[in-house]
Amino acid sequence: MPDPSLGDMRVDEFEAAAQRVAEWMAAYLRDIEQHPVLARTPPGWLREQLPAHAPDTAEDLDAVLADLDRLIVPATTHWNSPGFFAYFASSSSAAGVLGEMLSAAFNVNAMLWRTSPAATELEQVVVDWLRRLLGLPEPLFGVINDTASSSTLYALAAARESLTDLRIRDAGMSGRNDLPQLRVYASAEAHSSVDKACLVLGLGTRGVRRIAVDDAYRIDPGALRRALEEDVAAGVRPMAVVATVGTTSTTSVDSVRDVADVCGEHGVWLHVDAAYGGAAAIVPELAWVLGGAERGDSIVVNPHKWLFTPIDCSVLWTRRPDVLRAAFSLVPEYLRSDARAPEDAPDLMDYGMSLGRRFRALKLWLVLRRFGREGIVQLIRRHCEMARRLAALVEASARWELMAPAPLSVVCLRAHPSGVTDESQLDALSERVMRRVNEAGRFFLSHTRVRDRYVIRVAFGHVRATESQPDALWEELEAAQAAELSALSASGAPTPPASRPASPSSI
Ligand SMILES: Cc1ncc(COP(=O)(O)O)c(C=O)c1O
Repeated sequence: MPDPSLGDMRVDEFEAAAQRVAEWMAAYLRDIEQHPVLARTPPGWLREQLPAHAPDTAEDLDAVLADLDRLIVPATTHWNSPGFFAYFASSSSAAGVLGEMLSAAFNVNAMLWRTSPAATELEQVVVDWLRRLLGLPEPLFGVINDTASSSTLYALAAARESLTDLRIRDAGMSGRNDLPQLRVYASAEAHSSVDKACLVLGLGTRGVRRIAVDDAYRIDPGALRRALEEDVAAGVRPMAVVATVGTTSTTSVDSVRDVADVCGEHGVWLHVDAAYGGAAAIVPELAWVLGGAERGDSIVVNPHKWLFTPIDCSVLWTRRPDVLRAAFSLVPEYLRSDARAPEDAPDLMDYGMSLGRRFRALKLWLVLRRFGREGIVQLIRRHCEMARRLAALVEASARWELMAPAPLSVVCLRAHPSGVTDESQLDALSERVMRRVNEAGRFFLSHTRVRDRYVIRVAFGHVRATESQPDALWEELEAAQAAELSALSASGAPTPPASRPASPSSI
């Protein structure tokens, strides 16, 4: 009997193709350091290489795989490379890759419980496993979204819904003169997804009030309290406060307890953005990062940032699932299914914007089972040790400056030869040093601005991180700074005076 067809391939063809793709992936991941981490192709390069039309007739898999090597790999910035230290190093593990493959094979849409009981129930199980790993107490209802930007949008939509007297779900916001101005509060260092959510929710950019931070870039609870009091006195209605556990620029950790006190005084929704930093709470000595988060109305943690799960995977928990559901549930006739209590078997489409929902739980399940708590603790601990090592090298050097505390796995530094005081010269030097390191291809770093100064960010967090990397990167940074300074002096531009040698004893 001929092998039956899967529609586009026979079963035996699929098996052979899957094997070849698996071999391709294994070789790609094994040899990934052969490629420059940051893509070198100019804008438009890939588009020019590809035909303008899809093929008229079926193509062979060989041709497609050849194009992966020839076209896709060179135009890719390799997030899975161990030298990727930019942004947050969201590398995926092999287990996570396998989870993605399996979820494509199932290809279920977990919009309703009945359209995939397994996807719905596994999602509830894995988010509860993660809740326990992070030490967050029950009851917390969790769902998996694509990104923290969506999770925060949904959380803030729930916060808006919690202001029931305003009847926004029913009456909307436009054309009404009976609505007070609504406002969301977050630190000056909070992620831009808070502002985006407020744009979408009709609060506008003025709907976000940024609160001052202390010397360690954490929200100032006194300033938060004063801002709320001032706004309330002026007739503004506080809608939510966002506390950040691991800010994007410096990974500062807001005191969620202090923020929760202020929220309690005003009866305001507390959203905890722990998209990156929340994962650290798995490590016993870092559990403090989520201290107070148990008082949050909603919390977001992204397994695709620091839990070795391929993008996309963002977990949103809430203590008030009824409010989140009230904000989003809308069931047309064609989506009706048997009446059930949502606690027994929820239809997860009711807790966010998307109707179609991927089987994301599968990859997180594979990751959690494959690493186990101990495996994750070991890796996150290593990343934080690497950050401490690099920070120590920076602090001991007379040519560099540590620009923020490094409580987790990110180090903020800048080139600062001794004797140079011109801030714009220092900004330009750091920018050039970073570009030189990135062009060399072994590492990819990104930057931020801290107190308006140009800062190089080094984010450890890769699943294949090795302890020798901070020293290897340090050598490149040092060489890049030396090369930039000598290029400057060769060009006749004013150069900083020769710097003092570092004292290795203090590392
Ligand atoms: C603190 C924080 N919150 C939210 C986000 C947004 O994450 P996502 O890309 O999943 O939307 C980021 C992204 O880096 C972040 O650092």
